[in-house]
Amino acid sequence: MKANVLVIDDDYHMRIALKESLTKTGYSVSLAEDGLKAINEISKRIFDIVITDVKMPHLNGIELLKHIRKENPLLPVILVTAYGTIQDAVSVIKEGAFDYIQKPFSADTLYNTIKRALGINNGKIICASKAMKDVLIKAEKVAKSDVTVLVCGDSGVGKELVSRYIHDNSDRSKNPFVPVNCASLPENLLESELFGYEKGSFTGASARKMGKFEIANGGTILLDEITEMDFRLQAKLLRVLQEKEIEVIGSKYPKKIDTKVIATTNRNILKMVEEGKFREDLYYRLNVFPIYIPPLRERKEDIPELVAYFLRKHSKGMDVGISDEAMNFLMENKWKGNARELENVIARACILSGYSVIKMTHLQEMQFDRDSSTGSIKEMEMKLILDALKVCNGNKTRAAAMLGKTTRTLRNKIKEYKDMGVLPNMEEQQWMS
Ligand SMILES: Nc1ncnc2c1ncn2[C@@H]1O[C@H](COP(=O)(O)OP(=O)(O)OP(=O)(O)O)[C@@H](O)[C@H]1O
Ligand SMILES: [Mg+2]
Repeated sequence: MKANVLVIDDDYHMRIALKESLTKTGYSVSLAEDGLKAINEISKRIFDIVITDVKMPHLNGIELLKHIRKENPLLPVILVTAYGTIQDAVSVIKEGAFDYIQKPFSADTLYNTIKRALGINNGKIICASKAMKDVLIKAEKVAKSDVTVLVCGDSGVGKELVSRYIHDNSDRSKNPFVPVNCASLPENLLESELFGYEKGSFTGASARKMGKFEIANGGTILLDEITEMDFRLQAKLLRVLQEKEIEVIGSKYPKKIDTKVIATTNRNILKMVEEGKFREDLYYRLNVFPIYIPPLRERKEDIPELVAYFLRKHSKGMDVGISDEAMNFLMENKWKGNARELENVIARACILSGYSVIKMTHLQEMQFDRDSSTGSIKEMEMKLILDALKVCNGNKTRAAAMLGKTTRTLRNKIKEYKDMGVLPNMEEQQWMS
């Protein structure tokens, strides 16, 4: 996906030059000629980054920066300064600018600063604990090679985040990172999603469709929830990994591709191999480089930093605090839904606290919610679905039919339980993955 960049400069030629150069590099660029016009643009659409001149009429770059820090605290701002306009660069950084560049600057300086700035927003990974640091060290190492990676861990621990991190740290980072959830599509649709099809290869194939493997060529494909792929497709995937070529549906010739594969699972994949539910040969192919992310309760040192990070993310720029008692509670909670559950709790607590100080009462309101009638209904509903899944051997389509629901509803329900942290015990969680 193209990142949206807003460029602000009162000099017409500068604006156009920056637009041309950034558009060529693959960004989607909008322009504004002063701070006030920029604020108007920002209110209309979502930007990933702002690059602004300092000296401008109406509202200058520093004033614009202060405004953005208040309204959009996560939006990175890069200031472009003429030599000597900023006496004290450090103070600009203190005001919350991501960085500044001095005119005249080279295209490379600009691109590198932008790339670093985008990194902040997309997938900052908190890693205070030794366990998480080890995960990132492994990820950085494997990023330098092209081997297949299997990222394992419970729901919400950050598997997708770490997968992106691998891509971002590899020399493929300029090319696409393409996630595909293997659980979200039935078998034949998943196949055409992954490998694409030729025009006319079946009724309804009115145009050629490019598969995700091809879209990710030169980059990385993320096969999320790999265990949900059925046996036949598993065999096809194995061949892709071995031959480094895909068979586009309806095409006579295989097509060479150079796509790095990262797969994720929150199930005990080895156990599934032993039970004959997942191909052993594919497992060994995928498991060349396993990365296991431990559950949050086993790396509590990450909790305070995650809390601070999620507070910044959800406080709408206000200074939301948290009482010691509430913090202790967060430290001791089980976090079955891991970082995702913690993020949801913080987001809701920000609102309940009126964006001031999160206290025990705000958390208890949620605990109470979970234990009260709605909570126990959710729990009962979850158990029903779990039983159906067990009977149907994990097949979501059949389980949904048995419960008289659509597969989509079933998946949405399961996602909802994960977000709420309403989950069965570890052993049973595999059925709901
Ligand atoms: N270490 C971390 N630092 C910052 N944010 C994190 C961290 N770990 C997880 N998150 C956040 O928690 C949420 C869940 O992470 P992610 O989607 O990567 O988990 P997952 O393991 O892929 O989950 P699932 O198994 O449900 O697919 C995301 O919003 C992610 O940004
Ligand atoms: Mg995921």
